[in-house]
Amino acid sequence: MVMPASLAPWSGTRVATASTPLSNRLWNLDWSRLAPWQFGDVTVEYVAFDHVLPFIAEHHPLIFGAGGGPEERFFAEPMTDAKRRFCAEMDVFAFRHDGRIVGTWLSHPTDWSSYYLRNVAFLPEYQGRGLSAALFRALRGPLAAAGVARIESDVSPTNVPSLRVNLAEGFVVTGTQNTERWGTFVRLTYFVSPDAESVFVRQFSGVATKLRAKRNT
Ligand SMILES: CC(C)(COP(=O)(O)OP(=O)(O)OC[C@H]1O[C@@H](n2cnc3c(N)ncnc32)[C@H](O)[C@@H]1OP(=O)(O)O)[C@@H](O)C(=O)NCCC(=O)NCCS
Repeated sequence: MVMPASLAPWSGTRVATASTPLSNRLWNLDWSRLAPWQFGDVTVEYVAFDHVLPFIAEHHPLIFGAGGGPEERFFAEPMTDAKRRFCAEMDVFAFRHDGRIVGTWLSHPTDWSSYYLRNVAFLPEYQGRGLSAALFRALRGPLAAAGVARIESDVSPTNVPSLRVNLAEGFVVTGTQNTERWGTFVRLTYFVSPDAESVFVRQFSGVATKLRAKRNT
């Protein structure tokens, strides 16, 4: 999860970034061939990270309720050339309504068969409209077709809206962690591969996932 304090406006030098995001280079996924998507009056565009950086810098502190600065509780990392290069590797989607960006989605591969939902954020008036689930449903099919076995996400334990939407989409809890960067997280996993899910259930749970039928629709 990328937090706002670490995404303050960048004032470094221009750096060389990958011309194509990692998902394209690993899996030959070209989101620009699938985007844009239209969800009601909101359009979702596939964009470069720099395109959403002003939105992130302006709105994420309020959306996430973090102020940055001296009162920041967690370890904050400023924008660096390396961070900017990493951000250029991500898949970035902008939710747009009436010409302005109203939400952002950042995700990326973490290895050859794992995909990570790093950060999703909407302006308050665009929360609760089912927009994140709509984009997730648009992305998961192409990710499955590309051979992704699992989609992962980390959510703060008190972020009830985020937990609700993830669990409703078929994610299951696969762990917890304490981080110096963003506090405690619940790790959620959406098993794209039934084989991978079977192994998880066999090893770590006595109850089969109940949402498979729903997830596959
Ligand atoms: C968390 C978030 C990405 C979820 O996306 P979304 O498109 O709003 O999700 P949904 O519309 O499917 O809402 C999920 C549930 O949370 C509820 N909800 C969403 N936003 C809410 C809000 N601001 N206040 C109260 N409930 C809210 C919805 O009513 C829905 O409840 P339901 O399960 O009873 O139907 C979005 O609410 C958001 O931007 N939150 C702030 C940033 C954040 O926490 N990001 C996640 C961590 S990176």
